[in-house]
Amino acid sequence: MADEAAKDGPSAPRRARRLFAWRNRLAASRRFQSASSGFLLTRGRARREGQALFDIVAGFAQSQVLMALVELRVLHRLLERQATPEDIAGEVAVPVERLRVLLQAGAALKLLEVRHGAYRTALRGAALLGVPGLEAMIRHHDVLYRDLADPVAFFRGETETELAGFWPYVFGAAAAEDPELAARYSGLMTESQALVAEETLRHVPLRDVDHLLDIGGGTGAFLRHAGRLYPGLEMTLFDLPAVVPVAEAAFDAAGMAERVRVVGGSFRDDPLPAGADAVSLVRVLYDHSDATVEALLAAVFAALPPGGRLIVSEPMSGGAAPDRVGDVYFALYCLAMRTGRVRSADEICDMVEAAGFESIESPSTDRAFVTSVVLARKPGRKD
Ligand SMILES: C[S@@+](CC[C@H](N)C(=O)[O-])C[C@H]1O[C@@H](n2cnc3c(N)ncnc32)[C@H](O)[C@@H]1O
Repeated sequence: MADEAAKDGPSAPRRARRLFAWRNRLAASRRFQSASSGFLLTRGRARREGQALFDIVAGFAQSQVLMALVELRVLHRLLERQATPEDIAGEVAVPVERLRVLLQAGAALKLLEVRHGAYRTALRGAALLGVPGLEAMIRHHDVLYRDLADPVAFFRGETETELAGFWPYVFGAAAAEDPELAARYSGLMTESQALVAEETLRHVPLRDVDHLLDIGGGTGAFLRHAGRLYPGLEMTLFDLPAVVPVAEAAFDAAGMAERVRVVGGSFRDDPLPAGADAVSLVRVLYDHSDATVEALLAAVFAALPPGGRLIVSEPMSGGAAPDRVGDVYFALYCLAMRTGRVRSADEICDMVEAAGFESIESPSTDRAFVTSVVLARKPGRKD
């Protein structure tokens, strides 16, 4: 055997490993870099790679420019007018020369545009204002930013993260009894939930569903969207007791109080409401440990009738094809939350299958940075 291997030369994987090491040695060599940036066939790629690398290096500064523009409401202020730094320095209480740096940075990020020394909100900046919940999301990043200040300690698990306190339910229902805290985190989710609902329901028709139970439904934006699309749909929202009054008020304000039953309880400790033939879990699983998710999926399976449907919608890891949204942003966010983790669609499919579901699929959504979806059915036929 050994002789045969020697005769055939290095095995394919070993050859691939050598090639990979050689490629990386080359890419890391200063001489090669300098040569490839001057050579016609490689210089385009060298420039793009250099730019991409520097974007990663400078990402934290870019985020802080964005944070300052949002905090100072610069994008709002310059939405319909253009102004020089001198014009608005007083409004935002930033010295003119420093404001010039901020506005110029905003223009470099294409959030603003500049003409003859005057700045105004660019298309990208205007679009940011139109994304529900995005400003609130950016503003609460101050907490995550502090948690990440020492990234090595963060990855070693030595940081007592502040973000976990923002979402007290990660420590169990008993830690989430304060209605003020519930209203604060629910408020943050509400606006973006409309976007997630829109994206999910674009890919998940509910024509065959009579009664939808939304577990961890927050203030109910998902059900409101579903209810508008399907006027005959019966709906139940299940969330922690502290969230119930906020959800009820939101259904009331939308004129939908009659159509929705809001049930308070914890899926960790209480039985799930019965009677639904479909269950949605929107941005719920990634908050929780595998053990909690396994128990929740088992409870959902038991609560559904034969043929009942499961809809999981949340940002997911790219898995074998790592992507920036799931594997950088949401993965770190979940680490800072301490209890959950971002899972790939494949991992969620496996957990869903282990709970007993079948016909499991993961249709691709157009905007994975908003949400991704896993669908399944309980075996058997609907009556
Ligand atoms: C990240 S929020 C998502 C809310 C909503 N589905 C959305 O997408 O905006 C997670 C929700 O799960 C709820 N939740 C957390 N732990 C829970 C538990 N043990 N039982 C019931 N609901 C829970 C929270 O109160 C919160 O409303």
